[in-house]
Amino acid sequence: MFTAIAPRYDFLNHVLSFNIDRMWWRRTARTFRPILTRLDARILDLCCGTGDMTFALRREAVRSKTAATQILGADFSHAMLRRAAAKSAAGPGWIEADALNLPFPDSHFDLVTSAFGFRNLADYDAGLREIARVLRPGGECGILDFGEPKGMMGAIYRIYFKQVLPRVGTLISGVRGPYAYLPASVERFPPPQEMLARMKRAGFVEAAWTPYTFGIAGLYRGKK
Ligand SMILES: C[S@@+](CC[C@H](N)C(=O)[O-])C[C@H]1O[C@@H](n2cnc3c(N)ncnc32)[C@H](O)[C@@H]1O
Repeated sequence: MFTAIAPRYDFLNHVLSFNIDRMWWRRTARTFRPILTRLDARILDLCCGTGDMTFALRREAVRSKTAATQILGADFSHAMLRRAAAKSAAGPGWIEADALNLPFPDSHFDLVTSAFGFRNLADYDAGLREIARVLRPGGECGILDFGEPKGMMGAIYRIYFKQVLPRVGTLISGVRGPYAYLPASVERFPPPQEMLARMKRAGFVEAAWTPYTFGIAGLYRGKK
């Protein structure tokens, strides 16, 4: 499905989110500045797609002249990764891998992020356990994903997200399915309290959720 929409993915992301997606990636990257600017930190951006979260992490890391941060983007869609790689010859590094079965040793990374990818995993608990496995003790995870805003704002947003977005997405991508799947996948995604409980069960401490833009999106954080 993601391979099918790869050619128009970036364009549609920016159009359908009115460019707010860029703000969300930047805000997430800023949150992890203390890790990103650390000497020799190892960072993994899971389900990186065309790499916009990965690039936001790198921009934050290079603010510190001393940091020698290693940043890797991982995704199981080759087409998405090719687009990511085409955006910059200088890296970050890209790797084709399944988030549920990562080709990395235990306790390898200081930070694992995932933007709008985690929600798509077939097994959320297995995904959290795999993130915890590859993190070093004290390492952090940041999962940025959609939420369901409440109240008046939520009612307006639901009309847009369920009625308008699938139609525009299908029209521009020329692919039937993925943009109807998007609201369905957000409905399937656990609400914050449940997601935080799952993170704790997977071994994360200090698990917390920060809503972005009325809760349309939000960042889950946890420490191993
Ligand atoms: C909505 S895109 C998000 C891409 C990017 N992180 C962003 O913020 O634009 C979701 C990505 O997750 C990837 N993905 C879904 N399940 C995956 C899995 N099990 N392992 C690796 N990548 C996966 C898809 O291929 C897709 O590129």
